[in-house]
Amino acid sequence: MQIFKRIWLWFDDSTGLSAALGPVMSHPVPRARKTAWFYVLGSATLIAFLIQVATGIALASGYVPSSGQAYSSLVFISGAPIGRIIRGIHYFGANAMIILIGLHTIRVYLMASYKYPRQVNWLSGVFLLLLTLLMAFTGQLLRWDQTGYWSVLIAAQQSGRVPIIGNWVGHFILAGDSVGGATLGRFYAAHVFFFPGLIFLLVGFHLYLVVRNGISEAPSIDRPVEPETYRTWYHALLAREGEAFWPYALWRDAVFGLLVILTVVGLAIAIGPPGLGKPPDPTIVQATPRPEWYFLWYYAILSLIPKWSESLVMFWGPVIFGGALVLLPLVARKGQRSPWRRPWSIAIVAIVLFMIAYYGAVGKVAPWSPRMDAPPLPASVVGTTTGPIAQGAKVFHDKGCEYCHLVSGYGGIRGPDLTYAGDTMTPAEITTRIYSGATNMPSYRGNMTPEELSSLLAFLESRHRQPIQPPAPAANQ
Ligand code: HEC
Repeated sequence: MQIFKRIWLWFDDSTGLSAALGPVMSHPVPRARKTAWFYVLGSATLIAFLIQVATGIALASGYVPSSGQAYSSLVFISGAPIGRIIRGIHYFGANAMIILIGLHTIRVYLMASYKYPRQVNWLSGVFLLLLTLLMAFTGQLLRWDQTGYWSVLIAAQQSGRVPIIGNWVGHFILAGDSVGGATLGRFYAAHVFFFPGLIFLLVGFHLYLVVRNGISEAPSIDRPVEPETYRTWYHALLAREGEAFWPYALWRDAVFGLLVILTVVGLAIAIGPPGLGKPPDPTIVQATPRPEWYFLWYYAILSLIPKWSESLVMFWGPVIFGGALVLLPLVARKGQRSPWRRPWSIAIVAIVLFMIAYYGAVGKVAPWSPRMDAPPLPASVVGTTTGPIAQGAKVFHDKGCEYCHLVSGYGGIRGPDLTYAGDTMTPAEITTRIYSGATNMPSYRGNMTPEELSSLLAFLESRHRQPIQPPAPAANQ
């Protein structure tokens, strides 16, 4: 024991650690009131981020960031018992981090903690929020399955709408003209090195500011913020009724943080990571992806608004929202902090939450969205298990036709129902459609072998309202 103590004393003497950290841990904070539990969300977000770092390092040591092997390396990771749990923790950890940073932002907004002197706290937080969304977005592609692939392709196509620099941005995101190996490399570098590095730096800055400016006291209607006198008043408050950060405030962070960790790990073990979609298939270029829920509402809104307004909304939506977040602490720097005196702040939060929930739900069942998870057509629908018709039914599923077209109730409803295609279209008409595509249907020219096409035609031509009777055998004469 003596030896450990001596090592510690030597280390502390050399680094000055306890002299530096001691005041931070024991610095006074406003006495806990009814709102104290709302103040744990920031530290919980940090804990979720650390979970992501730990599991991310573990995943990166098994993951192969190359277009040929990424998908199969994830299949391999998900197949191993520990790998499955780690991928699950990384998945639920990401969800937890998004939810927690969202709630933390809402808490700070509703209590107007962004007012003087904590404006830069808020601004660094806005960039942390942006970085968190970028982490979620880049992580999605690393799965290298259909959904990740299409989300990124569509995001790149969307960024092409940005005036002047749009093409350059799209090119930069994809590291080329289309999603390929170089895109994966770029997203990997961003997801594993660049964004986490920035997050570490900004979190450090954010925490430094929290200590420098002090934790905001609970808002009160009869105490609006006056920048001229605020700091003096705040220090008097701390001197009068402050209590030491550790243990009087930090224990709540510890309890809630532990709860977050247990929930994430519990869900990872009980449910496991989400299944991987099919490997990406460039033949369905225009299919709309079904991204994670925290982006789903945005994709849904973009698909529902009229076509002419798309570019406007895509560009001005994020600009206005981001601009409002940045300008908020500069414009509303003093005055009332109580949400009851700022009812519009409650209305804005309610509207944002409603949009995410409502359009997220719309996005989940939206008819414009292909059903990536449509199972292969069962034999009872196909009518046979061998020959060109059965092969054609397989092509119909594997080439993604079924994502958009219904056959006897199976498949998506983005395109017309093809249950009776044999009645309504000739093989030549169907061939033209397959080769030339349409507004919301990709062209399959160059992506389908003649054998695949002919079996597909055989299958579609066999779809009739009344099964055609085989000609009766000629009677003996
Ligand atoms: C991304 C969704 C999507 C995919 C994938 C897709 N289609 Fe389509 N398809 C559509 C849409 C939308 C239309 C309607 C186009 C129009 O009329 O402008 C359509 C039209 C058609 C039509 C004409 C139907 C009619 O009644 O006019 C046929 C036939 C067809 N598709 C066959 C296929 C086949 C075969 C495949 C697979 C090789 C396929 N589609 C893949 C969306 C899709």
